[in-house]
Amino acid sequence: MRKPMLAGNWKMNKTRDEAIQFVLAVEGNLPASIDCVVCAPAIILRDIVKRAETLKVGAQNMNENESGAYTGEISPVMLKDTQVEYVILGHSERRAYYNETNEKINAKIKKALEFELKPIVCVGEVLEERETGKTYDVLKEQVVKAFDGVTIKNPADVIIAYEPVWAIGTGKTATTEVAEDACKFIRGVLADIFGKAVADELRILYGGSMKPSNVGELMSEPDIDGGLVGGASLKADSFIELCTTAA
Ligand code: G3H
Repeated sequence: MRKPMLAGNWKMNKTRDEAIQFVLAVEGNLPASIDCVVCAPAIILRDIVKRAETLKVGAQNMNENESGAYTGEISPVMLKDTQVEYVILGHSERRAYYNETNEKINAKIKKALEFELKPIVCVGEVLEERETGKTYDVLKEQVVKAFDGVTIKNPADVIIAYEPVWAIGTGKTATTEVAEDACKFIRGVLADIFGKAVADELRILYGGSMKPSNVGELMSEPDIDGGLVGGASLKADSFIELCTTAA
């Protein structure tokens, strides 16, 4: 049985004070039956971890090396030291603006698992790929390359997020049919790699203009286990509503 998850990706938003106010507002108002997570900017992670009780905490990126001359980067050692539980890897904004390749994302996943950080691995097609009928090919390549040589000990600790790039921050949510079709396809690819039993335990989230008004319908689909939410996760009341609706 897969435990639903609602993960907020704050991206490059919130000061330390704003983040603390958010945590104080949501604590005590989150359902226990799902994993409620916020993935915050690295500089405020420790402040959030310190105050979070039921809320779980994740980072938004991680370097695949443990230490060294990588100016500006955050290592898995540092994330462990900060006591975060999750890390988003391969978000489309990282792929597009920072040239992250499937190979690099693969190295990051391996390193995250080595350090017992739970990766939230993002995949998704751009609009042109969808319009030219390449969605399945793109998703398959992203999933196969991301998980090449990866060993999954506990399927509950590895999360995949299907985020069609054309739906991110655009207000254009994928229809439930489109989102379910892609998530089901991804689960099939994961079954080819890890076997059906493991694939059936892996959580697949949908991301892309998810909000309180559409989270229920999206999550009623059999292969959508939750959401990775950007804009609608920034306000405490909206985050609480997302989590309670998802539960
Ligand atoms: O990681 C989250 C996604 O990029 C979705 O962002 O909910 O603002 O469309 P959004």
